[in-house]
Amino acid sequence: MVVGPTLGRHQGNTLQSSKNRTTFHARPMLILGIESSCDETGIALYDSQRGLLGHALHSQVAMHEAYGGVVPELASRDHIRRVLPLLQQVLDKSGTALNSIDAIAYTKGPGLAGALLVGASIACGLGLALDKPILGVHHLEGHLLSPLLAAERPDFPFVALLVSGGHTQLMRVDGVGRYTLLGETMDDAAGEAFDKSAKLLGLGYPGGPAISRLAEFGDPHVYKLPRPMLHSKNLDFSFSGLKTAVLTVVKNHRTNICEQDKAHIARAFVDAIVDVLTAKCVDALKQTGLKRLVIAGGVGANQQLRAALNNAAQKRRFRVYYPELEFCTDNGAMIAFAGALRLEQNPSAATHDYAFSVRPRWPLEELRNA
Ligand code: KG4
Ligand code: ZN
Repeated sequence: MVVGPTLGRHQGNTLQSSKNRTTFHARPMLILGIESSCDETGIALYDSQRGLLGHALHSQVAMHEAYGGVVPELASRDHIRRVLPLLQQVLDKSGTALNSIDAIAYTKGPGLAGALLVGASIACGLGLALDKPILGVHHLEGHLLSPLLAAERPDFPFVALLVSGGHTQLMRVDGVGRYTLLGETMDDAAGEAFDKSAKLLGLGYPGGPAISRLAEFGDPHVYKLPRPMLHSKNLDFSFSGLKTAVLTVVKNHRTNICEQDKAHIARAFVDAIVDVLTAKCVDALKQTGLKRLVIAGGVGANQQLRAALNNAAQKRRFRVYYPELEFCTDNGAMIAFAGALRLEQNPSAATHDYAFSVRPRWPLEELRNA
């Protein structure tokens, strides 16, 4: 079954906290955000004075589930079907007229080329028709800045852990566009490790939430899995060995694995990955001397990771900030918001040049002097 479009809980309302607004524009700006980099179509309206006016999301998870992962061509086609109805829905619910939008921010990359092209072409088409400027946003910058949309927003500078399906990076963030890479995964991303290990346990796609739920029923002492690069003395990660260790445990079972044993394996996997992520965050804070940690990306929704980080924060006296749960995974709000922050910095960042391009591969570090 395909999950129907849902409007977020901010629909039709401005956010209440005055902290989650960008306060910069002499004139308020209304930014339309379009996210289509992978398997979620997200639309949002962000007002630089009033905050988030509304957002809507359509997840393609049910469509891709049968294939055990995202099928790029199906993803592109589905984005085409969803973008305009979602946009209409957000406009209607927030009582906004299309031509009152001041600029259109869309995800330019990184992501699936065909999927990105859908958002880019809709942004360009709308921009041209409405005579509004457009702005290509970096998807990871959207994730990175998404905790600033929450009621409790961190001040710069902070250390950010970006943990999604495609990326695991530790970053020092001194301001919008001022990102220094501290460490990253040498192979699989944390989300990828969650998804691949879940698949080995027959838990379907995407596996992150499923393996995390199952782990709650597991005994932490039955299996011990490796904690790759835990003592590597740098801030890099490696998760492909952890997935291989899960595979070995699964293969060592001559018969079908019972549900309880699956839960024990899930628990060992989650404990291992959470230990590594938490330890590296603590190391990054030590190395930079900073006291603020921000978690962004889909794996940031993981409850075991949040519990471990909150625990470490209490013990070691730092603060940890998360995006609202609904903005951990891909969404349009983070793109509209990142677009607004970019325009605050440089009002001419948006253009009337509608010869669009996308960047399926686009290192975040390239943004440093953008
Ligand atoms: O940020 P995101 O929506 O998309 C990318 O940009 O990659 O992250 C998706 C990833 C998937 O690998 C998914 O399994 C993982 O985030 N994920 C989780 C949880 N929710 C999503 N992993 C662990 N626990 C969760 N609760
Ligand atoms: Zn993402």
